[in-house]
Amino acid sequence: MTATRPLILAIESSCDETAAAVVRDGREVLADIVATQHDLHERYKGVVPEIASRAHVERIVPVVREALATAGVDAAELDAVAVGHRPGLIGSLLVGVSAAKAIAWSLGVPFLGVDHVAAHLFAGLLEREPCAYPALGLVVSGGHTSLYLVRDPLTLVRLGATIDDAIGEAFDKAATILGLGYPGGPKVDALARRGNDRAHDLPLIRLRRDESGERRLDFSFSGLKTALLYATRGVPERRPAGAPRGEPPRFPRSADLLDDRAKADLAASFERVAVEHVLHNVREACRRHRVATLLVGGGASANTRLRAELADLAAEERLDLRIPPFRWCLDNAAMIGGYAAYRLAQGESDRLDLPPEPLSALR
Ligand code: KG4
Ligand code: ZN
Repeated sequence: MTATRPLILAIESSCDETAAAVVRDGREVLADIVATQHDLHERYKGVVPEIASRAHVERIVPVVREALATAGVDAAELDAVAVGHRPGLIGSLLVGVSAAKAIAWSLGVPFLGVDHVAAHLFAGLLEREPCAYPALGLVVSGGHTSLYLVRDPLTLVRLGATIDDAIGEAFDKAATILGLGYPGGPKVDALARRGNDRAHDLPLIRLRRDESGERRLDFSFSGLKTALLYATRGVPERRPAGAPRGEPPRFPRSADLLDDRAKADLAASFERVAVEHVLHNVREACRRHRVATLLVGGGASANTRLRAELADLAAEERLDLRIPPFRWCLDNAAMIGGYAAYRLAQGESDRLDLPPEPLSALR
């Protein structure tokens, strides 16, 4: 046991990736295994919870074994076992949480449940030197779009969050509207690179001010998604009087009629506005809070335009930008091991009856 540089086995199974990693000292990633299930869910155009949990059951033990073998670590050398225990699909979480508890119990080492959203925020610190605090934290994932004031890794104050869709979810829906398939974010990103981002004047969202007159730092993407739908397929006919409720709206045209060029223009215009909305709030938060660092994480932080614009903003505001390389933007277990180390260093751990939870405590 190396108490000063703890060796943590981390597990992640909250959605459709079965992942295990071995992380030393919260930063050094000795192994990082991700078994994706995209092929199983593609034909349903989204994650099917029951299929996801069954696939986790089949994969969890081989993935953990592979992580230990890749790291060249014997289970007896581990100092702790960590798992993402919230938020996520409950059946999926149960598999990883049960596996982590069983391994921790059998080895007699501490067990830690980690909030997946917090772990995304600190993924940009893996394999890097520690950063200065306070920091601003931006999570942009399939389930969350939130801004935090990060006083230290264990003290996060939420400044704003989405009031409807998360940005990754909006990218996925944009892909469905444009007929691009699943998973949508990377497909919209690739198509947008070839489009004219000014071709469509989609609306930039402005939320009302709060009671004190301050502009809210919350996010909203559902209006933009509807604007993209109408720009793509036209405004639907009004439901005739007396027509049964629940009938799907009838659009003047189908997305199938659009050529690649037209779809690229729509994707680029959508992406421009979505990114501008995020940047607006980050810039405003920088104005209100004196911070040294900008921590960014979550699946949508893989987006080409968002990364470029955040880099420009960080340079302007003289912020130390910590955005993960692509493999750690998406769900992975290395970030779980990284965040668990902060808690372990404070002497924290969890009881073996810690339940998996569908929601984040940081919402
Ligand atoms: O963090 P993540 O793997 O899962 C959650 O915790 O939700 O995020 C997945 C989300 C998906 O909605 C996906 O479409 C989005 O991240 N995403 C992207 C890109 N790559 C993944 N969105 C925009 N551009 C991308 N390049
Ligand atoms: Zn995630």
